[in-house]
Amino acid sequence: MNHRKIVQIVPAVEVTEGAGVSVFRSIGTPARRNLDPFLMLDQFSTYNPDDYVAGFPDHPHRGFNTFTYMIDGHMRHGDSMGNQGDLGPGGAQWMKAGSGVIHSEMPQQESGRMRGFQLWINLPAELKMTAPEYQEITPQAIPEQTVDDATVRIIAGEFNGHKGPVSDPNTQFQFIDVGLAAGKNFVHFLPENHTAFVYLFEGEVMIGNDALNAQQLAVLDKGRRVTITADSEGARFLIVAGRAIGEPIVQYGPFVMNTREQIEQALDDYRDGKLVQTKAHMISR
Ligand code: FE2
Repeated sequence: MNHRKIVQIVPAVEVTEGAGVSVFRSIGTPARRNLDPFLMLDQFSTYNPDDYVAGFPDHPHRGFNTFTYMIDGHMRHGDSMGNQGDLGPGGAQWMKAGSGVIHSEMPQQESGRMRGFQLWINLPAELKMTAPEYQEITPQAIPEQTVDDATVRIIAGEFNGHKGPVSDPNTQFQFIDVGLAAGKNFVHFLPENHTAFVYLFEGEVMIGNDALNAQQLAVLDKGRRVTITADSEGARFLIVAGRAIGEPIVQYGPFVMNTREQIEQALDDYRDGKLVQTKAHMISR
């Protein structure tokens, strides 16, 4: 029970989102509908502007949190209530959609590399209809630690005594970005019973006796730690963990609630222009 192993490898599959943007989805596909408390993981990664210029024009969300982590490129965030933000390389954004947000996520560049992630984290039933919030995280606000053969950016949770700027008390969300030198090991400690996964985006690694390739997600079993070994090229990956919420998940596109009736309500509200019920607040922690 001590050492976590891979229980499932989920390959990211290319899907078209927004106004024709190409993303690679792992959680949220038929192979892995969700991974409580996580609902969806998309990676965007391209040098081809045709894959991203159209962006994600106005679209709704209700009932969960979205977390965006940018590696290369710029996205502008705006919503129908006047909030604006710029997300640049190494930065992040946490958004609690709560009762409802209609927003756009648009690239601020017409050429060059665009690379990053969007992860959806569920909200417990009692918080699904609460007021939306945004948290913008600049690259400078993210602690970076070099330990032995790894460079670790700590966006959420704790590593080596350093705390990331994002915190979600509901799930005790952890999100670290690890660059690991060729042939080296990285050992990471996790709360024993939390859901956890590794998403590899550069190189190849071994976890226990199993190999993981780029653009694959490894769902881990329970346990206190995970050891990841980079191959001869070195590797870069995310380690993400959180406490499962353990409530029914009923999802219809950008609405994630607990019952069918609540989804129908969300669709009615969206159609009637009542999805956005209260202004979103910028928060800082
Ligand atoms: Fe969105």
